[in-house]
Amino acid sequence: MHLSTKVNTMEFSGTMQISGKAKELKAQGINVIDLSVGEPDFPTPQRIKNAAIKAMEDGHTGYTMASGIIPLRKAVGKWIKDFSGVEYNTNEIIVSNGAKHSLYNALQTIIEVGEEVIIPAPYWVTYPALVEIVDGVPVYIDTTSESNFKITPNQLKDAITDKTRALILCNPSNPTGSVYSKSELEEIGKIVIENDLYIISDEIYSRLVYDDFDYVSFPSLSPELKKKTILIEGVSKSYSMTGWRIGFTAADKEIISGMGKLQSQMTSNPASISQYAALEAISGPQDDVEDMRKIFADRREFLFKALNEIDGVKAENAKGAFYLFPDFSSFFGKSYKENKIEGSMDLAMYLIAEAKVATVPGSVFGAEGFMRIAYATSMENLAEGINRIREAVSKLG
Ligand SMILES: Cc1ncc(COP(=O)(O)O)c(C=O)c1O
Repeated sequence: MHLSTKVNTMEFSGTMQISGKAKELKAQGINVIDLSVGEPDFPTPQRIKNAAIKAMEDGHTGYTMASGIIPLRKAVGKWIKDFSGVEYNTNEIIVSNGAKHSLYNALQTIIEVGEEVIIPAPYWVTYPALVEIVDGVPVYIDTTSESNFKITPNQLKDAITDKTRALILCNPSNPTGSVYSKSELEEIGKIVIENDLYIISDEIYSRLVYDDFDYVSFPSLSPELKKKTILIEGVSKSYSMTGWRIGFTAADKEIISGMGKLQSQMTSNPASISQYAALEAISGPQDDVEDMRKIFADRREFLFKALNEIDGVKAENAKGAFYLFPDFSSFFGKSYKENKIEGSMDLAMYLIAEAKVATVPGSVFGAEGFMRIAYATSMENLAEGINRIREAVSKLG
């Protein structure tokens, strides 16, 4: 069978492989605690589901404008303005099939073959894959837990070459939960302007920020930086709507028009019913978003303490998203029965086999030594999952 080199050399999403393994075990009736998931465990709020039903009953079941219905694009503009003060016109906003699709369209629109895109590591697994799909070249900046997994201005300067076109910043970060402060973003912004780069600011977790952290959206820094920013947003995480597949991009109108052209040829519009659901999500009462955020905040506190109580685990607390990224490297080189732990992938496989707990190894995010633990699951599951991890790692010697 002939497959293209591009597809042959591509890998399945690492996070999806682990959650796939967890689902497989669950299907065999095994009680697996899944701390690997990247989606909220809450049902989509009822008001949003009702809006979808109404959309169907009202006959909104045909094609829409490829870039999304005007009322939704207007509402996205207002939603962004209410959150960060940044104003976008309707022709500066496009609705796509999930934020992943928004990212693909954005990269395909701005990257020429062989151009470099800077990706801070640890990174969300999809970024390098998407850059490669559009024939760009991912260039990584390694960060450490000492800098809270954030890049420094000098690191960014050092990574820039005459082929650099863009920087992808995930803020708050998947997988680390780190959030950049205003002054940190300003320093990055200066370098972006000096080197005439685009910044793809993935802010899909922007509404999931804790400890009253003063979250700053990248395009709000200055009108000049707004022009260089491709803002990626969506409803998947903060409205618990992962399956509805709606993502938003806000950027300069020429970029949005380019993305619209691409989308009109590739997928046409995102599902009409999902668009009406997203319209209700972002323009209806927002109490449910805050209720979910508070639940995440409590779980984060619990998980942070519980992880640090495990001998050999070091966890930093993170200000955003729904992940912690603790250091498990002290277990490397140890073994139990036939299980030898050489790295985070071995540890993830050991935890799933021995403890029936799914976690994601840091290696898939380009950060060996760490494990991504999601707290998008109930407190009971978190407590049970941590107990099982503690027991399994204590057997390693
Ligand atoms: C950082 C980040 N960006 C984008 C996405 C994609 O979101 P969507 O499900 O809307 O495609 C995810 C989902 O895991 C994510 O973690």
